[in-house]
Amino acid sequence: MNKLVIEGGVPLKGEITVQGAKNAVLPILAATVLSADECIIHNCPWLRDVEKTGVVLEKLGCMIKREASTLCVDTVGINSCRIDERLMREMRSSIIFLGAILARCGKAEVGMPGGCPIGLRPIDLHLKALRQMGAEIIEEHGYLRCSCKKLKGSCIHLDFPSVGATENIMLAAVTADGTTVITNAAREPEIIDLAIFLNKMGAGVRGAGSSCITIEGVDKLHGAEYRIMPDRIVAQTYLIAAMITGGEIVLRGAEPHHMQAGLSALSEMGAKIRADKGCIYLKSEKKIHSVRIIKTMPYPGFPTDIQSPFMALAAVADGTSVFVENIFENRFRHVDELIRMGADIKVEGRSAVVRGVKGLYGANVEAYELRGGASLVVAALAADGITTVSGTEFIDRGYENIERQLAFCGAKIKRVWT
Ligand code: EPZ
Repeated sequence: MNKLVIEGGVPLKGEITVQGAKNAVLPILAATVLSADECIIHNCPWLRDVEKTGVVLEKLGCMIKREASTLCVDTVGINSCRIDERLMREMRSSIIFLGAILARCGKAEVGMPGGCPIGLRPIDLHLKALRQMGAEIIEEHGYLRCSCKKLKGSCIHLDFPSVGATENIMLAAVTADGTTVITNAAREPEIIDLAIFLNKMGAGVRGAGSSCITIEGVDKLHGAEYRIMPDRIVAQTYLIAAMITGGEIVLRGAEPHHMQAGLSALSEMGAKIRADKGCIYLKSEKKIHSVRIIKTMPYPGFPTDIQSPFMALAAVADGTSVFVENIFENRFRHVDELIRMGADIKVEGRSAVVRGVKGLYGANVEAYELRGGASLVVAALAADGITTVSGTEFIDRGYENIERQLAFCGAKIKRVWT
């Protein structure tokens, strides 16, 4: 076990190159299963979730080779269509393999993913869509047993613009018989990244990024080489870290147009931001203003994944901010820990009222999930005194070497093994 030990009060100053996006690389690695060929993925972040996805691919019979941030995946030798429940429990987002395995093998057997600390994480929209495409899916003994000789193109309307369901349908549809149209599709940038990769493999995906995606099924896909987009959530987390410490930061390789909602909120809170293609500069003004209200919404609305880091910033802002978490039912796990550091936050159902305090103080706090953990690190950077953050295994799922990145910008942070 290890924890992060942070001495707060140092204004961050420096430059960070933004890592590849976790939520783009995971579905793209699942997509490699669709062709019996080799794919080369560049700008792949070193994350626990990527390691676990590599284990899933190897269990399916693929060969993985990693050199620095390049991952080679050879899927010629796939000899299994099963992901066991232990692996699924370890990383529920492996459900994204379902559509791809079904399309490649004509059958799939995966453990039910279950929920996670932030919510129940149902997959009813995934299963409804795959059944509509002709898959027979039996849910029993904790497994989903799926079979379908040839998936058929269908018109699928999503009751909610689910990111995972949109991706699973895309992966199932690219080699289906006929055309698939997804309406009310998710519009996240990671969906566009997946579509570009699939089209490089020879697929016919159009409209990704809009709420209507059309996929012309093709007979066969081939391998492709691709560079993963930058991680917009990690990028915004580091901008918030610079802001809360009264520092300034340059993010290289960031895509400002992927983070308009977050940049707008940071400006409202007093940040001076300059953004152009591939680079963002943020300078924190002395005073941090509260933000009237933040409501998490599907993209391009305010991303749920940066709600908790923003709440840490609001905790030391001048005034009161209101957060409404509309996407996940249990995404305020960081609140108690921020209160332990002196924050003044009141949760009522899906809303949290944050009254800014003069400053936070160091404490021993616990991360219970990925983005809540990042929020505690951000708070600790500004707190007076020493904070220890345990539960780093959650933070490492999405942030590559967080302590090294922050230390590069002057933060007094280190990882200690207990
Ligand atoms: C993806 O999760 C991301 N994960 C999440 O990031 C992100 O928070 C989320 O999209 C929203 O942007 C990955 O891409 C690996 P959803 P996903 O399906 O696909 C309901 C992080 O911290 N829903 O859009 O699971 C569900 O209950 C993670 O990096 C159904 O009801 O998100 C939730 O309320 C956390 N039925 C809402 O939709 C379904 O079948 C959003 O879920 C599917 C979803």
